[in-house]
Amino acid sequence: MRYWQVGLSLAMALWCTSALPDVASGKAAFEGQGCTGCHYTEGPAREKTIEDQLAKAGPELWYAGSKFNRPWLEAWLTDPKPIRLLKYNSLDEKNAGGHPTLVGADATAVTDFLMSLTTDAVTAGVIKPKSHPKGKLIFKKKMPCSGCHQYEDRKKVSGGLSGPSLVGAGARLNPDWIYAYLSNPTVFKPVRMMPVFAGLMSPKDMEFVSAYVASFKGE
Ligand code: HEC
Ligand code: HEC
Repeated sequence: MRYWQVGLSLAMALWCTSALPDVASGKAAFEGQGCTGCHYTEGPAREKTIEDQLAKAGPELWYAGSKFNRPWLEAWLTDPKPIRLLKYNSLDEKNAGGHPTLVGADATAVTDFLMSLTTDAVTAGVIKPKSHPKGKLIFKKKMPCSGCHQYEDRKKVSGGLSGPSLVGAGARLNPDWIYAYLSNPTVFKPVRMMPVFAGLMSPKDMEFVSAYVASFKGE
């Protein structure tokens, strides 16, 4: 090899290590920062007993890479604001906030790690975010979604408190995950589960409402 070739391959190697997702050090940071104390990173949910599930104080993260949009996840880890208005798995206690915070390189590496946790229960490319009148009708009238979820419509926040807030859901959630969650809930099932709509809603209506939720802006 000539000098310039050595130089080029060195530059390539450096470029590759800086551009590649750092899954291994993200996993190490996840464990080192005590995240495993409150979150499972292995699934599926249905293989766990209720006791297993209640042993962790936070939601399962084994499908995080299929659920979240990466920019939202990285930003949230550095400045976590409450998503659920009530404490996770509780029906009456308020969510007091105070989620552990990550800084700088740890936040990026942990994001790399969490984004590597995907599931084939989510089919990519099915749902396009859309504020469609049909989706809105299902969300607000035909189905009880708005009774349990806060959402923003024409700059006004309304809706129920028992489910996670969906204000800004478009920035947070992968549209295809929303559809998979509605149509195949047992894969993702947490203890305090939302009602099962599979069988109650047509797949087409699920597509409409998923596209509608995925269009939510705000925060
Ligand atoms: C003491 C328990 C606890 C620890 C430790 C903890 N979390 Fe959490 N985590 C929670 C709870 C509770 C929630 C739900 C928060 C909400 O809804 O506002 C949550 C939510 C999350 C979410 C969003 C999940 C979702 O489905 O909405 C992510 C991502 C997350 N945590 C990552 C982490 C990482 C990374 C660490 C380590 C730095 C960590 N957590 C440490 C309890 C914990
Ligand atoms: C009886 C209350 C209830 C109703 C009705 C309801 N949900 Fe939920 N929803 C929940 C609960 C509880 C969760 C999950 C709890 C958790 O992860 O902490 C949830 C989770 C979700 C999530 C995932 C949010 C996240 O960040 O993890 C979406 C999206 C969602 N619901 C959309 C809908 C849609 C669309 C409808 C109507 C077809 C609906 N929900 C009806 C209570 C409800």
